Amino acid sequence: MFVPLKDLLEQADQGGYAIPAFNYATLWDLLAIIKTCEEEKSPVIVASNSQVAKNVGLAYCQGMAAVAMRNASVPVVNHLDHSFGIEQCREAVDVGYPSVMIDASKYSLEQNIDWIRQVIAFAHPKGVHVEGELGRIKGKTLEGEFVEGEDFLIQVDEAKRLVEESGVDSLAVGIGTQHGFYAGKPEINFKRLAEVNAAIPTKLVLHGGTGIPAEDIREAIKNGINKVNVGTIISHTMVETLRKNLAEDDKANSLSIMFPVVEAIQEAIRPWIRTCMSNGKAR
Ligand code: 13P
Repeated sequence: MFVPLKDLLEQADQGGYAIPAFNYATLWDLLAIIKTCEEEKSPVIVASNSQVAKNVGLAYCQGMAAVAMRNASVPVVNHLDHSFGIEQCREAVDVGYPSVMIDASKYSLEQNIDWIRQVIAFAHPKGVHVEGELGRIKGKTLEGEFVEGEDFLIQVDEAKRLVEESGVDSLAVGIGTQHGFYAGKPEINFKRLAEVNAAIPTKLVLHGGTGIPAEDIREAIKNGINKVNVGTIISHTMVETLRKNLAEDDKANSLSIMFPVVEAIQEAIRPWIRTCMSNGKAR
């Protein structure tokens, strides 16, 4: 079923939990995500990032996800993750995506606000949710840039200005999390997260879910996070399962080799749904 993301995030905020947002790149990981969330009775955001959108095509991604949004027994929202261009967001809105992210976090505050406003101008008339980002998510971006050092941290006064001037629906926050696997334990600035949460009404998004320990995700939810993005573990599980099973099975065909991949992804993502505490919350 489909429920607007605004409503799902509001329910999560009221209930003290987060909606998991899982990245998909193929039909197989999408199926695994939907199946697991149906079993766990959890609402879910399924997210194609800008590279998947570019290579698979936005219309194909939306076509697959539209079936899930129509047929799944739990709320499903298809989302364009980390788009770095206004035109890609426009195309996503045109093919029916109910939610898009415009990531202009590497630019000045003024340009970030301006890009969000431009996306909102064509997204909101069609009821499409818009996520922005302030501060930076550490690690390698989809554009190949490596974000490190001290400039990643979101500033409270900038968050207030961005929200007031752009009208963004939800905001990814740079508080020390990183995309991909971490070398050590992430150092998340929960104090800054709480300050941002107190300063703005906008629902907050945690990126880099794969490498964050469960207790830190819980702490982030306590301090205002209502959406948790998880990607790398899904791609990693698919590749590792394929590698292992292909080595062991010389009669494999494309179908027989993918069923165990779906099962492996299901078991890999289940802990994040439970950590988000969104299980049992589907309506
Ligand atoms: P991970 O790949 O680290 O789980 O992060 C996913 C993400 O934040 C997508 O936006």
